[in-house]
Amino acid sequence: MNGTLGGTNSDFVPVLGLSKAQGEELLEKLEAGETLTVTVAVEGAEVSESTSHNVIATKKPDKEKDSGQIVIVGAHHDSVEGAPGANDDASGTATTLELARVLSDIPNDTELRFITFGAEENGLLGSYAYVDTLTEDEIGRTVGMFQLDMVGSRDAGKLTMFTVDGKANIVTDLGSGVGARLSEKVNYGKEGRSDHVPFSEVGVPAALFIHSPTEPWYHTPEDTIDKISKAKLQEVAEIVGAAVYLIAHEDTPPVK
Ligand code: PHE
Ligand code: ZN
Ligand code: ZN
Ligand code: ZN
Repeated sequence: MNGTLGGTNSDFVPVLGLSKAQGEELLEKLEAGETLTVTVAVEGAEVSESTSHNVIATKKPDKEKDSGQIVIVGAHHDSVEGAPGANDDASGTATTLELARVLSDIPNDTELRFITFGAEENGLLGSYAYVDTLTEDEIGRTVGMFQLDMVGSRDAGKLTMFTVDGKANIVTDLGSGVGARLSEKVNYGKEGRSDHVPFSEVGVPAALFIHSPTEPWYHTPEDTIDKISKAKLQEVAEIVGAAVYLIAHEDTPPVK
């Protein structure tokens, strides 16, 4: 062993994960001829930097009809490494695109924002970054956020709505009402872990739409398109589409 271990002017010994003081102590012991048993573990050695993007489509209301309100439909377009992500969350991404297509035609008094977030799986990075861009005024005008994450698996359970605090809000109220009329009762519960969280944290009524319990292929290489049920996608698209319509159509009253 030579002096490189603790002998430079750096503050720590990065390779061994030791502080400078610990490195010097180790060096002293080695120089004094002590026999040491050292366990070396390599963890998280690879570091890289990359950029992720959110994709945002906006439909503003007619100037004369503007209620001043905003409603957001979201999903995430990334997936975990090794998983194709057909259900998590291409299902929500596809449904968001379809809702944007369908709702682009309605006369709206409420601004519609359709967003697919990046880097959800890395800690909701895209949605936190997006919420960071909103002004207090925009946050105050945002009456609802509908998050679609894992909404197409034939092997998952029933459509469920999750809020961060487990309480009902305008989003779950509309989901329940429309669900009961269009298909079947949609229950709600408490769960974070998706892009509705950053919105909820700034006070925007938000809910995650997901089939629960999740499918066995969750976050595996088996999350492939053959497991996707068109009927399940259709059901969630109708429920969320009708709920958004009820907020946004110019003939319906403002939410609050
Ligand atoms: N956000 C999770 C994901 O993308 C989905 C999830 C939410 C799963 C809540 C279970 C419960 O992996
Ligand atoms: Zn996931
Ligand atoms: Zn997801
Ligand atoms: Zn309206």
